[in-house]
Amino acid sequence: MIKRYKIGNPIPTDSVVKEIEIEQGNIPFWNVDQNGKSIFCSLDEDEVVYGLGETIRGINKRGWIYVSNCSDDPNHTEDKRSLYAAQNFYVIYSANKSLGMYVDTPGKVTFDIGYSDHDTFKITFDDFDANIYVIEGNGVKEIIKEFRELIGRSYVAPKWAFGFGQSRWSYMNEDEVREVLSEYEKCDIPIDSIYLDIDYMERYKDFTIDNDRFPKFPEFVSEMKAKDVHLVPIIDAGVKIEDGYDVYEEGVKNDYFVKKEDGERLVAAVWPGKVHFPDFLDENARKWFGLKYKRLVDMGIDGFWNDMNEPAIFYTEDHLQEVFQKIKCYENQNLDINSFFDFRGCVESISNNDEDYRRFYHNYKGQKIRHDKVHNLYGYNMTRAAGEAFKEIAPDKEILMFSRSSYIGMHRYGGVWCGDNKSWWSHLLLNIQQMPGLNMCGFLYSGADVGGFGADVTEDLMLRWVAFAIFTPLFRNHSAMGTRRQEFYRFKNKEAFKNLVELRYSLIPYLYEQYLEAINGNKLLFTPLSFEYPEDKRAFEAEDQLFVGDSIMVAPVYKQNTTGRYVYLPEEMKLFRFRSFEDYDEEVLGKGDHYVKCGLNEVLIFVRKGCELPLYKPAKRVALLDKEPAKTISF
Ligand code: GLC
Repeated sequence: MIKRYKIGNPIPTDSVVKEIEIEQGNIPFWNVDQNGKSIFCSLDEDEVVYGLGETIRGINKRGWIYVSNCSDDPNHTEDKRSLYAAQNFYVIYSANKSLGMYVDTPGKVTFDIGYSDHDTFKITFDDFDANIYVIEGNGVKEIIKEFRELIGRSYVAPKWAFGFGQSRWSYMNEDEVREVLSEYEKCDIPIDSIYLDIDYMERYKDFTIDNDRFPKFPEFVSEMKAKDVHLVPIIDAGVKIEDGYDVYEEGVKNDYFVKKEDGERLVAAVWPGKVHFPDFLDENARKWFGLKYKRLVDMGIDGFWNDMNEPAIFYTEDHLQEVFQKIKCYENQNLDINSFFDFRGCVESISNNDEDYRRFYHNYKGQKIRHDKVHNLYGYNMTRAAGEAFKEIAPDKEILMFSRSSYIGMHRYGGVWCGDNKSWWSHLLLNIQQMPGLNMCGFLYSGADVGGFGADVTEDLMLRWVAFAIFTPLFRNHSAMGTRRQEFYRFKNKEAFKNLVELRYSLIPYLYEQYLEAINGNKLLFTPLSFEYPEDKRAFEAEDQLFVGDSIMVAPVYKQNTTGRYVYLPEEMKLFRFRSFEDYDEEVLGKGDHYVKCGLNEVLIFVRKGCELPLYKPAKRVALLDKEPAKTISF
């Protein structure tokens, strides 16, 4: 049962698809704080809090403070409070209680989940305006189902998008892309897509192609298509300010860019240099921008990733001037410790500055609204622009779409990737722990940059990461310019990578079917153990094991220099230790703790009692997979 409570005068977000009557009275279990900006409730000792989508730390969010404020921050360290997404749904859960809540408000919200006080959950609003949906039901899965029905059906990615994708910032020209493909083919490693980062564009201008680097782009797309390989270009939020660039000129002419209080268009800088930001919240601008994807769709493109849409701001003209003014005062000073830190803080304030997000306005549903009030809707509406346009320009085509920034509601138009993680072991664990929360919030097509985006990966980390990522819908190896090259063929143990990726292809029919079932049945693809075993305290503590679909559990190794790991089994299961599709051993393990060996070239799959896992003969492309499984493993 869903009840809706209204606080203040909330700005609509278009995140729910069902109209729920407003309930009078107080939110059950919750109190309003004296400060008039917060609500709080008490947490029992055994209660966990799951959800909040793409956030840092563990599956259980208790014991930290999370701020929904979509941010371009490439350092996803434990001390951070915000990442790229704002997905404000969670459940408070224990063996005898489950309560779901969706805090629907487009501005900044702080979730203090037992951080200030272990026994108190406190939510503080920048503006005390929100629709709060309280969901009670028969158990946690039922609550999630009801919530997902409330927010509407999740985006369905094409099946080929479950194939392996290779990406790197940057593949500079056609030949580099060809080389990537041919190296994968030489090693016999399956691959379905190659991603194009910003360098395919002419001076980083959206919807353009750099003709020197990609001289015959449509032909190149066809050449790849003929090999069953999809090219997936990036689209950034900012539109380059450049005379003669039609997207810029049309946007100016039709008033589609965000403006400041004085009516001047905001000038910010991102990868293209100076840009204007389209007002994706304005229906007309959204429509206009969405239809621009047609250019690439007409060239044969059937997949995109939307980036920099928090929006990321390297600097704004205005704030840069303020900083220049201010640092002049420091110029001939003998800086003492305080003035030095002031000076440094001043320079560091240049990017993604809070003040800048208060400097511009949207034309949203007939009203002029300052950006910070609706900040968390920006990336959502960029992806919505594309999703709405796809229905018009390619109604019969399945187009891959995922975004960096998101809000609930965007899950109907695309998936997400978890942004600029690092080649750290802790980020492999983070990837594992982010999946259930994302699924709860409707984001089924998701994944992280496999191997890590920033920093230098090691071969063992990459192998371990792949051994987990073969289960995530988005399975993409992406890395930053300047870091160690991490295409699988660059490593010594090419055979191990081949076997792992082949295993992924064997699993794709199962994964895709379970993925569709999660979408259609409003379920999770990645389920925490405690959802299945609410009475088992140990299941609540197993934060590094997940059920994937109905039949299997995974327990990835995420520590360096280890030959295995401890696994907790809440019931008897059959362990299959795969070295390849053909080569594996199996053993039945009883309920309880086990130290399970797992070599760098191995994957652990635990099959649940009474369950089956069909495995298909590995193919080099998703399109080439057989219709029937080659074998079925079961317990
Ligand atoms: C951002 C994206 C990253 C991309 C880079 C260059 O950092 O998150 O994936 O490679 O921009 O476009």
